[in-house]
Amino acid sequence: AGYITYDPGFVNTGATSSAITYIDGEQGILRYRGYPIEQLAQRSTFIEVSYLLIYGELPTKQQLEDFTSKISRHTLLHEDLKRFFDGFPRDAHPMPVLSSAVSALSTFYQDSLDPADTDNVELSTIRLLAKVPTIAAYAYKKSIGQPFLYPDNSLGLVENFLRMTFGLPAEPYEIDPAMAKALDLLFILHADHEQNCSTSTVRLVGSSEANLFASISAGIMALFGPLHGGANSAVLEMLERIKADGGDVDTFVNRVKNKEAGVRLMGFGHRVYKNYDPRAKIIKQTADEILSKIAGGDELLDIAKRLEERALSDDYFIERKLYPNVDFYTGLIYRAMGFPTQFFTVLFALGRLPGWIAHWREMMQDPATKIGRPRQIYTGEKERDYKPLSER
Ligand code: CMC
Repeated sequence: AGYITYDPGFVNTGATSSAITYIDGEQGILRYRGYPIEQLAQRSTFIEVSYLLIYGELPTKQQLEDFTSKISRHTLLHEDLKRFFDGFPRDAHPMPVLSSAVSALSTFYQDSLDPADTDNVELSTIRLLAKVPTIAAYAYKKSIGQPFLYPDNSLGLVENFLRMTFGLPAEPYEIDPAMAKALDLLFILHADHEQNCSTSTVRLVGSSEANLFASISAGIMALFGPLHGGANSAVLEMLERIKADGGDVDTFVNRVKNKEAGVRLMGFGHRVYKNYDPRAKIIKQTADEILSKIAGGDELLDIAKRLEERALSDDYFIERKLYPNVDFYTGLIYRAMGFPTQFFTVLFALGRLPGWIAHWREMMQDPATKIGRPRQIYTGEKERDYKPLSER
């Protein structure tokens, strides 16, 4: 008692034990429930990975069918919840819209919120996995003034999301299988990353026994920030700026090295990885495949590659072990798929959702869980006496 460890940003503080995700930052290793990310990326699907993260094992054929069909039966939004979207300004950023709507799920399912009731937690889990893609698609539709499409439950989760996002009521929507597969892959790569800022937020909020919807809504807002999930949008804005300035990566890198206020190489660096982010490796390959199909190549991809090469051979980045992270190439792929820049972080949230749920559930089941309540080092005034207004 009386002794407090001071660790801003929790750089060295383990706040929980967890059996979900393993990271070795020095070697660039990432595993979900023991399975290497490279194998999951190549052979699994997002829905299967969601099951794996939440329930701990890969599903059998029957389990996967049941899980998939349960999710597809919950994709509709309550009609009253749909009207929420009318209240936001047309140019509203989709992240707070998403967070607000997820928060509002607590009001639509008030009879099934008890965090200690495992049946309710199961139902909330399915509702979130099913409804968050619908909410995300509606946030997009609202921003461009197009009508909302009801989900088509004969489609898979990713296909359904693409159709609700890009489809129109008046014409059939042709799903591009390559695009659906690439998005599925990106969701797998984002699905969990142990105690990152948003996941820690979900745990901290949940540790007060706040319900799953409330906790995930808070996690979405933590992800919004440019140092976390918002980095994927920030990378694209950075590449656009470099392009507008004539494509000169040297000048930009020098500005970063001179630590000009607000200038960071977005999509580089990571609290845990001091090596190439294994997710970035897989994504770079995907970016190459997808973007090579675009006529004349992609100028921003070219800038990104030159920027990466330049940074990786520069002492500033070498000394600090700064490598590309998951966000460096994702924006380019999302852009090629037709998503607006503002929407990229929503796609990160869709991918991270099963990870957040898995962590919330793990925390609730862990007998060692206590309410999260960090301590502080007080640096304020010593005791002093109140002065009446006339004497101040
Ligand atoms: N550009 C330039 N310098 C950097 C960068 C960067 N992207 N990242 C770290 N540094 C420098 C930093 O200035 C510091 O230098 P010095 O020792 O001279 O003061 C040193 O490297 C250590 O950085 P830090 O800020 O103490 O590291 P951190 O662990 O607190 O921050 C980070 C990690 C991811 C917030 C940071 O690297 C960053 O801001 N990167 C850019 C934003 C980004 O790409 N975020 C996505 C992270 S991955 C996915 C996700 O979580 O969403």
